Amino acid sequence: MTDFSQLARDRFSARKFDPAREVTDEQIERIIKAGLDAPTAVNNQPFRIWAFRSDAAREKLLTATKMKFIGDAPVIFAIGSKAEEAWVRPYDEKNFADVDASIVATHMMLEIHDLGLGSTWIGHFDAAKVQELFPQTAGYSLIALLPAAYMAEDCTPSDRHQLSKPFSELVEVL
Ligand SMILES: Cc1cc2nc3c(=O)[nH]c(=O)nc-3n(C[C@H](O)[C@H](O)[C@H](O)COP(=O)(O)O)c2cc1C
Repeated sequence: MTDFSQLARDRFSARKFDPAREVTDEQIERIIKAGLDAPTAVNNQPFRIWAFRSDAAREKLLTATKMKFIGDAPVIFAIGSKAEEAWVRPYDEKNFADVDASIVATHMMLEIHDLGLGSTWIGHFDAAKVQELFPQTAGYSLIALLPAAYMAEDCTPSDRHQLSKPFSELVEVL
């Protein structure tokens, strides 16, 4: 098992994949399992995971995003949340559906990296179009597309990867 601190430090958004290398069913199962192991508020599990595996499904999905590089990934996951199934905090009526689904997606993203593959959390896509193309996703708030693929040899972190606001701006110890 990879050291978690190292994994968190090493991870970066990979945007150049090697389309010639397949991702195995076993790897896909591990990625999904990591998502299913995620905690959710009151264990309500108000999320769904879809795996776009076939060429036809991935090509159709690609029409809903400008992030064309994900087309080189042999599998693309979509993660959605359902507000009606989620815990609502009684004090302020905050619905935790997207929080829960984001933890699921984060587990999956880190598992992808732990497997030696690359991914980028994609938020820039036309969710309404995805729901039109894939009716099984209708009724869910689609929070992420996550490609999983072997990285191309010259895949490097973007300049943004290094940008970090000062510790003192982000963290306050009380
Ligand atoms: C919620 C969310 C949405 C994102 N959407 C996109 C996206 O649509 N396209 C993209 O190329 N990167 C996207 N990213 C990746 C971020 O740009 C990236 O994580 C950030 O610049 C830091 O770089 P790093 O992941 O390499 O550390 C997204 C990340 C998050 C967390």
